[in-house]
Amino acid sequence: MKALITGITGQDGSHLADLLLEKNYEVVGVARRCSVDTTERIKHLSSNKNFNLIEGDITDVSSVINIFKYNDNVDEVYNLAAQSHVGTSFKQPALTWDITGKGCLNILQSMVDLNMGHVRFYQASSSEMFGSNYDLDKNGVKYQDEQTKFMPNSPYAIAKTAAHHAVRIYRDAYGLHASSGILFNHEGPRRGENFVTQKIVSWIANFKKWLSYTTLDNFPIDYTDNHIVIHRESFPKLRLGNLKASRDWGYAVDYVKAMWLMLQQDEADDYVVCTGKSFTIEDFLDEAFNYAGIEEWRKYVVIDKDLYRPCEVDYLRGDNNKAKKVLGWKPECDLEGLVKLMMDAKL
Ligand code: NAP
Ligand code: GDD
Repeated sequence: MKALITGITGQDGSHLADLLLEKNYEVVGVARRCSVDTTERIKHLSSNKNFNLIEGDITDVSSVINIFKYNDNVDEVYNLAAQSHVGTSFKQPALTWDITGKGCLNILQSMVDLNMGHVRFYQASSSEMFGSNYDLDKNGVKYQDEQTKFMPNSPYAIAKTAAHHAVRIYRDAYGLHASSGILFNHEGPRRGENFVTQKIVSWIANFKKWLSYTTLDNFPIDYTDNHIVIHRESFPKLRLGNLKASRDWGYAVDYVKAMWLMLQQDEADDYVVCTGKSFTIEDFLDEAFNYAGIEEWRKYVVIDKDLYRPCEVDYLRGDNNKAKKVLGWKPECDLEGLVKLMMDAKL
């Protein structure tokens, strides 16, 4: 089997490549040209004979067509490429649209034009598409599932919703085996530094390092680590935005398994992938600071209004019954386990 992954340099792309290579796939990863090396998450694959990295950008339809022409024996295509930061999407809405929305359309239309009807396609849809919407279960608790109406609340979510509908239309109109995974937040040691979980974990790890340095006589006056200048006298506080938002956080390694399972089904379909539990950013802070043995995180956190979003998604908690029933998938890692994995990797 041969799979093509866009977004290979990202968190999910790297984990999905690991999974498919374990399954003896040949994997082609598409990475765009950058002025710096972005292959940190996949450098362990560089000598794997079943792994190839090629240059491409999904906003450029001729780039997409060429990729497919040179890989005409591909069996599965996973579109994980996106401008994936919700906050950034308010600052760069048109770019987000081009990559996160139109990029998916470029791939789907190229597959039709090149008669790739036999190839299975996965689209990385998102729980952000629900925005402020939810349903209520029999106990009056909020949740989102495959039937919950989308109410996108950010340029990122609008682009993802457009791509999600494009997948549905190309499935119905052209018979493509095209599935969308509506994935809720998933994290892990490879998570980008500017997502809230990794930002918190990174700060704690740097703070602990600083605490240990301050006991050394030869501690440098300024120590630059991970873009933070650490002074002996003080350590910059952790600046965060809205701590009241709730997220359904899972482990990225579990979630890429669901992507693969979707493409192994006879019929293409859409699936919610989540843990079914929701926690606030404050809960995450409690868990992470406790794990690191630091009491009273409030002493170290500053609320920065600039980090609030113009529109917020207040509450996400998925219902994963369909994925459990049809795919036989279930999450293996809870919040406590996730914090432990992320903290241990940083420490
Ligand atoms: P990520 O770490 O931000 O990775 C995004 C990837 O997309 C990177 O490899 C990036 O390359 C690539 N990319 C950006 N623009 C591109 C372009 N124009 N052409 C080709 N590649 C481009 O995201 P992730 O967390 O792995 O998420 C993977 C996908 O799932 C994304 O589509 C995201 O929106 C979606 N999703 C994520 C979550 C989550 O909680 N992680 C939940 C739901 C959905 P560079 O390295 O060059 O930037
Ligand atoms: N990034 C960030 N930085 N978020 C903060 C901060 C901060 O300093 N302070 C508070 N938050 C809040 C955000 O306002 C949001 O409510 C929550 O923390 C989570 O933010 P992110 O970690 O940036 O994730 P996200 O939920 O906006 O988006 C992620 O999950 C989506 C799925 O629901 C991304 O991975 C998206 O690509 C993905 O689609």
